Amino acid sequence: MARQGDVLICEVGPRDGLQNLDIVLPTEAKCALIDAIVAAGVPEIDAGSFVPPKIVPQFADVDAVIAHALRHRGTAIGALAPNAKGAERALAAGVDTLYFVISASETHNRANVRRTVEDQLDQFRAVVAACRAAEKRPHLMAAISTAFGCSLEGRVDPAAVRRLALAFRAGGADEVGLADTVGYGNPAQVKALSKAVQADLGADFPVRLHLHDTLGLGLANAYAGLEAGITRFDASVSGLGGCPFAPGARGNIVTEDLVFMMHELGLKTGIDLDRLMETRAILAAHIPAPLLTGHLHEAGYPKVLRGQPLARGM
Ligand code: COA
Ligand code: ZN
Repeated sequence: MARQGDVLICEVGPRDGLQNLDIVLPTEAKCALIDAIVAAGVPEIDAGSFVPPKIVPQFADVDAVIAHALRHRGTAIGALAPNAKGAERALAAGVDTLYFVISASETHNRANVRRTVEDQLDQFRAVVAACRAAEKRPHLMAAISTAFGCSLEGRVDPAAVRRLALAFRAGGADEVGLADTVGYGNPAQVKALSKAVQADLGADFPVRLHLHDTLGLGLANAYAGLEAGITRFDASVSGLGGCPFAPGARGNIVTEDLVFMMHELGLKTGIDLDRLMETRAILAAHIPAPLLTGHLHEAGYPKVLRGQPLARGM
């Protein structure tokens, strides 16, 4: 795996960030974005989706983008594959990490992958078998969507999330992700469920958080995750993102702001924040300004703080 700091931040802009846009980014822009993310020292990138182009046209060029991304050998390059056919394509492309997904809410699962939760678990078993038989076996990150709420069903039973997490571990996942797909989670809930899932899976089993900032609680939820012992986080540069099959979902937590928070907390990410900020120019050349967010981009990185010891209260 790629180099790691105290926390691992996975950049999901090239996948989650782009999947909900009306604009299709040219392949060269996607590759330039990935190059800039790599140059900033981000250890893992979710670089695209192996889904039918007629369902998500943004990823019609995913093979070319992944082939380009895989030239960077120090960074783990991953892609989403929501079914066995997608996994077959991702394995042929040679991804380092494969992301699979099931929703905790039945309605979102049907909207997203056109299957029941139980049928999607069958797909998961097929994906595990394909990974195990592959020449290059990727790290398999199995994510639970709508883990903290669903814009179609409302509140989600934490027991459903815990059941899926255990099914993923038993079925052969290397890591489980808890995704706040629509950004309805609150810090107390994120802390409690993260702790419960980590306890269910065992302290050594990797668990990550994937957070959206729909209602402004994204970074508070990330901090709650840290308090629960989570050290792996997804985030998206300039706060892009959202699931096309989850109405009302807004962007992911902003990678730049998350990295700033981690550094202010004294935690190492291995990421050069100034270089990460350079991704904005690549996105701004194609994406309307109102869709690009981030406190650090708006306020600027306060120069006066640089080189000073961290603030530590009393
Ligand atoms: N990539 C390319 N083609 C695929 C494919 C994939 N991953 N999965 C299925 N197909 C093809 C099949 O070969 C079949 O082709 P044919 O009509 O020529 O025979 C056709 O698509 C239908 O296959 P089926 O298994 O019935 O798929 P589906 O239409 O039920 O779609 C998913 C299932 C999972 C592929 C689709 O719902 C999907 O892409 N969902 C993910 C959406 C997403 O990206 N969400 C946001 C991120 S979580
Ligand atoms: Zn997401």
